Amino acid sequence: MIDVLLGLQWGDEGKGKIVDYLAKEYDIIARFQGGPNAGHTLYVNGEKVVLHTIPSGVFQSNCLNLIGNGVVIDPVTLQNEIRKIQPLCPDLMARLYVSSRAHLILPTHRALDAASEAAKGADKIGSTLKGIGPAYMDKTGRNGLRVGDIISKNFEEKYNKLVNKHKELLRQYEHAVEWEQWEQPFFEAVEFMKSFQIINAEYWLDNHLKAGKKVLAEGAQGSMLDIDFGTYPFVTSSNTIAAGVCNGLGVAPGRIGEVYGITKAYCTRVGGGPFPTELTDETGEALRKAGSEFGATTGRPRRCGWIDLVALRYAVMLSGVTKLIITKTDVLDSFSPLKVATGYIIDGAATKEFPFDVCGLEIEPVYETFAGWSKPISTCKDASDLPKEFTEYCAFVENYLETKIAYVSNGTGRDQLLVFS
Ligand code: GDP
Ligand code: IMO
Ligand code: MG
Repeated sequence: MIDVLLGLQWGDEGKGKIVDYLAKEYDIIARFQGGPNAGHTLYVNGEKVVLHTIPSGVFQSNCLNLIGNGVVIDPVTLQNEIRKIQPLCPDLMARLYVSSRAHLILPTHRALDAASEAAKGADKIGSTLKGIGPAYMDKTGRNGLRVGDIISKNFEEKYNKLVNKHKELLRQYEHAVEWEQWEQPFFEAVEFMKSFQIINAEYWLDNHLKAGKKVLAEGAQGSMLDIDFGTYPFVTSSNTIAAGVCNGLGVAPGRIGEVYGITKAYCTRVGGGPFPTELTDETGEALRKAGSEFGATTGRPRRCGWIDLVALRYAVMLSGVTKLIITKTDVLDSFSPLKVATGYIIDGAATKEFPFDVCGLEIEPVYETFAGWSKPISTCKDASDLPKEFTEYCAFVENYLETKIAYVSNGTGRDQLLVFS
């Protein structure tokens, strides 16, 4: 069976930390979508590490790690990432596999991302500018270059053909981006990638699954950034929900086992787009400070607000989440009262459904209020230590989402995870 772990909000729910923890129980960790727009934070021997393309199982020596076909890879970012983490993980290259079908992010994809965002002005998505959108556009437009192409004799020819197309496109934008200096590092990193274990990952996974190995698919971004079901157009360019695992790794739906859905005890979003429970007041500011809410990839301040059960129930439904994981509970230690959105009022009408187009709507969240915790959660060592106000809050969330909470995360540390049920 292949289990799935994905974010239920707008990303940064703490996926990296949880995958690193759960990886002890798995043989393979596989990324199935997204690319270097992701920033997954882990603490290894007390040292902070941010992973962008590499799966978060690399620091558990029992785990093989796969970058699946659904991922878009920037060879330069990947090479830098490997250089950074290799001292902490000497056998990394022996445990890292890459699907030959994963698409490449070219320097001109990054230039197109920047030019397109600049042209949008105030309506910009707030992209991480890693070239994600243009790379996926070339994938679905059937123009893209794949990892398997780098060992073909005519790679440069294919590259030049695509880059010529991109140059035409770039000419249409007023905003000029100088990308030529990114070409040499790109080709150096492509050379470096030739030393990777590049495989037909769908057969590789199938063989491992048939041999009874346990696989965990690691999501990037969050459900509300899904290209189909997120707050379009303020989304990323891949399917971040559980369905993305099947086409992002080449596994059949019947093989999916548990689906772990992660949510923070509150909510954040980085970049543009609607966020119904956003707090633009001092409480939002206090959440940002208490939770150190700054993007792991771009360093941008994250927008903060209360947990939104309407959006969460939608995300749980879309992915068939079987177990919840709630993170950053310690961040709420100093907040009282706490609010939880249980519905929306849109044009005077109440709803518990996530609407089609949140962008053009005035949404007024309906809140349930809870007392803050009577003792700090950060110091709890066991679920039985948790304050009763917190367990009541969890019971409410579980009841609303009709899904049980399996783990509670109460700090950044590797061991700060409590088995809840
Ligand atoms: P990801 O993209 O989902 O992997 O999440 P990020 O790494 O972008 O952001 C999550 C941030 O929260 C990281 O800085 C983590 O170290 C931190 N974090 C994760 N779990 C907890 C927790 O339970 N409490 C606190 N205070 N921080 C946490
Ligand atoms: P992890 O895996 C939070 C956001 C960007 C932007 C939108 C589109 O760390 O949770 P893109 O670069 O894909 O064109 O950006 O999506 N975004 C994320 N926000 N966490 C992420 O990844 C994100 N990846 C993309 O801020 O609003
Ligand atoms: Mg992140």
